[in-house]
Amino acid sequence: MYLQGTSRINEKGRLEIGGCDTVELAKQFGTPLYVYDEALIRETCRAYKRAFDETGLRYQVAYASKAFCTMAICKLIEEEGLSLDVVSAGELHTAIKAGFPAERIHFHGNNKTPDEIEYALEVGIGEFIVDNFYELELLSAMAAAKGKTASILLRVTPGVEAHTHEYISTGQEDSKFGFDMGSGQAQTAIRKTLNLPAIRLAGLHSHIGSQIFETEGFAVAIARLADLYEWAAKEAGVMLTKLNVGGGFGIRYTDKDAPLSPADYVRAIADTILAEFAIRGLEVPEVIIEPGRSIVGPAGTTLYTVGSTKTIPGIRKYVAVNGGMTDNPRPALYQAEYEAMLANRACEPATETVSVAGKCCESGDMLIWDVRLPQVEPGDILAVSCTGAYNYSMASNYNRIARPAVVFVKDGQADLVVKRETLDDLIRHDRIPERMQAAAPIR
Ligand code: LLP
Repeated sequence: MYLQGTSRINEKGRLEIGGCDTVELAKQFGTPLYVYDEALIRETCRAYKRAFDETGLRYQVAYASKAFCTMAICKLIEEEGLSLDVVSAGELHTAIKAGFPAERIHFHGNNKTPDEIEYALEVGIGEFIVDNFYELELLSAMAAAKGKTASILLRVTPGVEAHTHEYISTGQEDSKFGFDMGSGQAQTAIRKTLNLPAIRLAGLHSHIGSQIFETEGFAVAIARLADLYEWAAKEAGVMLTKLNVGGGFGIRYTDKDAPLSPADYVRAIADTILAEFAIRGLEVPEVIIEPGRSIVGPAGTTLYTVGSTKTIPGIRKYVAVNGGMTDNPRPALYQAEYEAMLANRACEPATETVSVAGKCCESGDMLIWDVRLPQVEPGDILAVSCTGAYNYSMASNYNRIARPAVVFVKDGQADLVVKRETLDDLIRHDRIPERMQAAAPIR
């Protein structure tokens, strides 16, 4: 397993994160356990900001909270001076309750409900990223009714789709998100906003994909967006002052992945924006990026306890842990690959190849196929790295399995930031209809 941030092997031959022995963490908080390296999260936030500071651009780094949203991470992001991207009333509520300043919150989503818009207008968020004509009219009417003006970016689909090492320039993009550029919908939306009194159009937004390892897709998208800024200035008579190029910066899950550094992504984006706006004689807008995965992904490690094992001679050995697709659905959903180690015997040489299975009643509940480990025994603590993004946030209660606890570790201190769910938590919202309670027991 590749050790990132403050992770290291300590004198006892155990995995240590944030100065905390993970075997002790497992004892203290139980397993499965999500462990976050707080210093690494903060360092990544700062790396993005440092890189922007060097460009001289006006900017915001908005953490995409969908990757991992709890009150503690919102607080940390606030302390680091970042902005926050939310996509639901739940994420917004988490941020507001954590004391996150509303004016630094951006609200995304292709189907924001009236209740969600109401909440966001009420607390006074900084920006709505408007996705479609329905939302534009709804937001305008709701803001006007409150006597407020909503500052918005229009989400546009520039016809670029990027995944890992490839990007596809699709022209007319088939996506549920945003206003299409190719068909002229984006231009229509820009004109429309100018006639809506309760809406102030600040700029455009585009997001081209996730887990991206190169910068070419961003460059193509930015050039197309710059065309639209030029069109807006010349044809619609509006100077757009902000440009949000989304998130999607890739991270290393296994050695198949070769991401750029935050600084590399920022420099490439900034250089392209400076060049594309200069050749069009346009003022350079404030630049916004929305990294999620890259801020929290590498900082998260999940600790499990090994239970049963099953060896099929000549085929494979299955090692089952006390979690699985309920705390990490990514292998089942996306064939995502992870690395692992035995946290309690971190110095022992790998002697066998095993496959790590979850405990759900589903054959697809496999966390890792073919990982090299020392001879695995029941009771071992298995650490799976790089689980900080889209694990806790996508966790489920399938099979009525309780969701794990989350701890932040730093300088030898471990703080519980999300309590482990209890069995009673699982039935907290259940109700038995009265007519069933009244009925005689079935014999
Ligand atoms: N901005 C927008 C508008 C987005 O839709 C997303 C991610 C981001 C920013 C942050 O992207 P990131 O920097 O985290 O790649 N559940 C999937 C990932 C879905 C990403 C959705 N949008 C996974 O586990 O890989």
